[in-house]
Amino acid sequence: DAREAAGRALAGRHVVVSAGGTREPLDPVRFLGNRSSGRQGTAVARAAAAEGARVTLVAANLDGEVLRDLPPTVSVVGVGTALELEDAVRSTCVDADAVVMAAAVADYRPRSVQGAKIKKHGLAPGEEGKATGPAPIELVENPDVLAGLVSRPPRTDGHRTLVVGFAAETGDADGDVLAHGAAKARRKGADLMAVNAVGQDLGFGDVPNAVVVLDADGAEVARAQGAKDEVARALVSLVAERLAATCA
Ligand code: CTP
Ligand code: CA
Repeated sequence: DAREAAGRALAGRHVVVSAGGTREPLDPVRFLGNRSSGRQGTAVARAAAAEGARVTLVAANLDGEVLRDLPPTVSVVGVGTALELEDAVRSTCVDADAVVMAAAVADYRPRSVQGAKIKKHGLAPGEEGKATGPAPIELVENPDVLAGLVSRPPRTDGHRTLVVGFAAETGDADGDVLAHGAAKARRKGADLMAVNAVGQDLGFGDVPNAVVVLDADGAEVARAQGAKDEVARALVSLVAERLAATCA
């Protein structure tokens, strides 16, 4: 209750967390999706609630199992596509103190969604007799929700929403995980960017999750490792710290 929450780091705060993976429909029965389970995002939601925040969890295609036993201070808004996620995040952020974008948002979506199931030989009604074969799927870019939260803040009451992103990087010929993470942090401009460094040469060893948290300049703020709820707790305390310092 309110008295119990008063002493906690996020008492009186509203935190929006997106979790899961978007699905971009091709037709009534098919979609382009990804393997995000939503476990890291729901862990952040739980950790923020444990610190006394009111939490809105924007849940993209989460299993009931992942959503089980959430505390009553977490309200869940279900979404399917990236465009739906953008709408839900922006509208729930109008009074948010912080937003954590843990969802895996599809970068692209099919340009058009067929109203009827696409047939194997790619023949639309009236096209009988044309050459058959798999029809190419034309894609268009989805909005970058995170970058949009930075460039077009959703609050209009003069308060600023702290924006936190996640990035999973593998490193490649152009640079290692941290170089990619730092470039992304600067490009997106989020206040904090948690760069997932699992399996990389950062001296962590084989722990379930290891993140390096960067600021908008790409500079290292903190490191956290362990199970997803440990990483979530570390991230939530950084959020609380920043809110206490800048948006009291
Ligand atoms: N994100 C977003 N909207 C998108 C894509 C990503 O809000 N259309 C957010 C994710 O929720 C995450 C962060 O941006 O917090 C980083 O996502 P990531 O896919 O790593 O970044 P991209 O800019 O899409 O870069 P990449 O080319 O590596 O996919
Ligand atoms: Ca992406």
